[in-house]
Amino acid sequence: MKNIITFGTFDVFHVGHLNILRRAKTLGDRLIVGVSSDSLNYRKKYRYPIYAEQDRLDIIKGIRYVDEVFLEESLELKADYIKKYSASVLVMGDDWKGKFDDLSPLVEVVYLERTPSVSTTSVIEVIKTV
Ligand code: CTP
Repeated sequence: MKNIITFGTFDVFHVGHLNILRRAKTLGDRLIVGVSSDSLNYRKKYRYPIYAEQDRLDIIKGIRYVDEVFLEESLELKADYIKKYSASVLVMGDDWKGKFDDLSPLVEVVYLERTPSVSTTSVIEVIKTV
């Protein structure tokens, strides 16, 4: 059984999120997703996500490619989560390219190309102008 793990906020779910989850799932048997908590987002970006963490967890859990979800409480705990969920592959979008290479003795790190022209930030900006 090959476990894949990935992390993200997944706020205002869009097709870029769907694409990375679908492609991550093809790399193994079980896909486990760490959804970053509201407080982690606040610490990182000085704003809360539009969708609350429980809703973001429920949405990601409802995606057919996802087998398990958990709340990512701290960016510093990636190695602990990888061990806890027995992940052998860590998938990140290529906006993080190189940033997680230090975890490579523990896990295979794969950076997948982001879907062009869509992000939560851009969706929010478009909505603001409507
Ligand atoms: N992602 C992707 N393609 C996109 C947007 C996101 O592959 N167009 C991936 C990211 O690389 C990450 C995961 O989806 O692995 C969750 O990304 P997240 O940061 O939650 O989404 P963004 O749309 O990038 O959010 P923001 O605009 O707030 O940075």
